[in-house]
Amino acid sequence: MKKNPTLLFFLFAAALLFSGQPSFAATTTVCIECHGDLPGDLGEVPVAEWQTSVHARYQTSCHDCHGGDPTDYAMAMTAERGFIGVPEYEDIPAFCGRCHVGVEEDYRESLHGQVLAFGGPNCATCHDNHAVQVATIDLINEDSCSRCHSYERPALIKEEISATETMLSQLETSIAALYRVGIDTSRLEDELFATRNDFRRLFHSVDIDKIRAQTAQFHSDLEQTKAAVAELEDTMGQRKLAGGALVLLLLLGGCIGLLIRRSYHDQE
Ligand code: HEC
Ligand code: HEC
Ligand code: HEC
Ligand code: HEC
Ligand code: HEC
Repeated sequence: MKKNPTLLFFLFAAALLFSGQPSFAATTTVCIECHGDLPGDLGEVPVAEWQTSVHARYQTSCHDCHGGDPTDYAMAMTAERGFIGVPEYEDIPAFCGRCHVGVEEDYRESLHGQVLAFGGPNCATCHDNHAVQVATIDLINEDSCSRCHSYERPALIKEEISATETMLSQLETSIAALYRVGIDTSRLEDELFATRNDFRRLFHSVDIDKIRAQTAQFHSDLEQTKAAVAELEDTMGQRKLAGGALVLLLLLGGCIGLLIRRSYHDQE
């Protein structure tokens, strides 16, 4: 058989590529190995979708959600090893809420949580079950929200949240810039982090009045952070100018001194 050099090259490259992904190798489990070979909704779909998710990135794997033993082929899906299986529609908030405690709380109090048994959305309705991505306000869109009701109220909520989101990301950029030039921004970062976490919980209430009222508070918190940032930026500018300014001031002082003395003499 004649060897195909191109093919060999690709095989070699592929081998390198895979050996260069230790994190993937390290996180593989018997769940992923066995399900990866199963067809459709049982394997290909959940495994491929999960691999693109924020959960895969943070090593939250099949067994972290579904339970079971990720190291034992034979016993993996047994109750003794804590296998939970697939949650029913109404059990999904508690299923996800094991890790997202605060969000589950807000969701339960919301109208969505209260009407869960009567057609309300669960976490996976909006976030998906396996392809969960980092959450942004883009999740609020006509396609998703108008599956069950009009888009009118969702649009109001999105508008209300957008301005604060913009402010948050602008502040993030400014603080990062200050950090890059060697300023200690840890206090500002902590402040912003706390505000952002609290703010991002707000959506799940889906209560436009509550969101309006609290957005005002967030705005004033953010205005304070913004003022602190502006002050630091000022100090930065001043520090640069200080050297030049000092010389200038001394010169100016000298001139004024001269002028005063001269006019004093003139008056005599
Ligand atoms: C040896 C192969 C194999 C291993 C290992 C394995 N599974 Fe499965 N799994 C299957 C097969 C086959 C099915 C479908 C038949 C069934 O439900 O038993 C299934 C079904 C499931 C289901 C759907 C159950 C339902 O009620 O519809 C979930 C969820 C699941 N597995 C998760 C896991 C998790 C988590 C692990 C690792 C802790 C795991 N599996 C390990 C082969 C495997
Ligand atoms: C973030 C939690 C989470 C992770 C991680 C997760 N699942 Fe699931 N999975 C779910 C939820 C929730 C459902 C129920 C879906 C529904 O009813 O909407 C489900 C359903 C399933 C089902 C039933 C078929 C279906 O699509 O409804 C299988 C099989 C399954 N998961 C396998 C896996 C495998 C294999 C992995 C790892 C590659 C995995 N899951 C990772 C949450 C998760
Ligand atoms: C009606 C759709 C919807 C439902 C139902 C929903 N979410 Fe969300 N979720 C969103 C949107 C939209 C955001 C982004 C909000 C923002 O950026 O201000 C979000 C943000 C998040 C975040 C990131 C923000 C944070 O506080 O960390 C997590 C985690 C989250 N949701 C988990 C859940 C869980 C768990 C459930 C079920 C208990 C759930 N979500 C139910 C739409 C939904
Ligand atoms: C075993 C714990 C665990 C379970 C169960 C779990 N998650 Fe997560 N989730 C995490 C971790 C860890 C992260 C990444 C760190 C973070 O952002 O909090 C994350 C991140 C997220 C994010 C992105 C947060 C952001 O900042 O934008 C969303 C949305 C989310 N999960 C939704 C869900 C949904 C929906 C379910 C149920 C189907 C679920 N999670 C079940 C642990 C879990
Ligand atoms: C699976 C169905 C379903 C989906 C999808 C859904 N909702 Fe709802 N929502 C409901 C139900 C049911 C109610 C309660 C009855 C009503 O007000 O229509 C509701 C009520 C609301 C309310 C009114 C709350 C109040 O206090 O008056 C808002 C706002 C809302 N949803 C926002 C959203 C947003 C934003 C999305 C998309 C991210 C969304 N919904 C997606 C089912 C859904």
